[in-house]
Amino acid sequence: MSMVIAEHLHKTFGRFTAVKDATFSIDKGEIVGFLGPNGAGKTTTMKMLTGYLPPTAGTASIAGYDIIDKPLEARRHLGYMPENVPLYDDMRVYEYLDYRARLKGICGKSVRQQLGEVIDKCGLEPKRKNLISTLSKGYRQRVGLADALLGNPDLLILDEPTNGLDPNQIRQIRELIRALSENHTVILSTHILSEVEMICNKVIIIDQGEIKAADTPENLTTNLRAAGRVSIEFKGDPTAVVAELEAFAPVKKVILEEPEDGWNRLLVRAEPGTDTREKAAAIITAHGLPMRHIYRHIPSLEDVFVEMTRRD
Ligand SMILES: Nc1ncnc2c1ncn2[C@@H]1O[C@H](COP(=O)(O)OP(=O)(O)O)[C@@H](O)[C@H]1O
Ligand SMILES: [Mg+2]
Repeated sequence: MSMVIAEHLHKTFGRFTAVKDATFSIDKGEIVGFLGPNGAGKTTTMKMLTGYLPPTAGTASIAGYDIIDKPLEARRHLGYMPENVPLYDDMRVYEYLDYRARLKGICGKSVRQQLGEVIDKCGLEPKRKNLISTLSKGYRQRVGLADALLGNPDLLILDEPTNGLDPNQIRQIRELIRALSENHTVILSTHILSEVEMICNKVIIIDQGEIKAADTPENLTTNLRAAGRVSIEFKGDPTAVVAELEAFAPVKKVILEEPEDGWNRLLVRAEPGTDTREKAAAIITAHGLPMRHIYRHIPSLEDVFVEMTRRD
């Protein structure tokens, strides 16, 4: 079931287009990394999904509710942690969350119960009576997460949740998000690749307002141009080896580099997702030539990101 369906979401500020015709969907239970350089349009897209910013064109639905036709229902199904969590410094953690719960229309007995739950889930128990002004950035983020969790929404939209944290705090928040993802669909934005690799099972890459890719990290890397690349070093006359490799179907290009120390270096480009190592080794062995190295390039999400956001 789709938790989020964005259809042709478009946002302009004056003459500037911040998000162009963004169409994507997110299934229930997914933990999605919304990845893009600064200024790519991540916050703008998230604000449109949350209903804080009306799209110039297009629409989206959250848990089946259209954000334009059914804004209240759509909002009730999501919790949003904005980029800079606006907290009230002179309130205590408990007071602040109590105030937020009431603003969200949670009332009666369930306020206490929900506050207990979100405080517990976010590890805020030791800080519940502290003034927000005295909290570290990591704990402030936890308060933001706790706030987003009030009302137990199906979907959490977290804008750069680890921004500005130190490595230990980042790890703690990451673990917390991972734990939350067991009961909530999560979209988090980041410009940090490793973060996505560590916790997300789907990546949406956005650049200059355009969605460039949306898939699992595994599919993105195996479908990459670089994914079929093999390098080989062998000795002897390369002519026949090159010709036979070029005739092999998945191979697109064979590049022979100048030998440096008597060893030929071949770069074989082939269809993404294919592996030409076995064939290459067989050809070289059939010619009785010595081989000392064969390696298939394993693309990282960074390669994907570079290929998708390259300016040439
Ligand atoms: N209210 C606004 N008015 C004008 N331009 C804006 C506004 N909000 C965002 N932008 C521009 O839209 C682009 C995308 O911004 P944003 O969505 O915040 O990017 P990201 O979150 O990926 O860093 C940026 O170039 C930004 O300057
Ligand atoms: Mg942003």
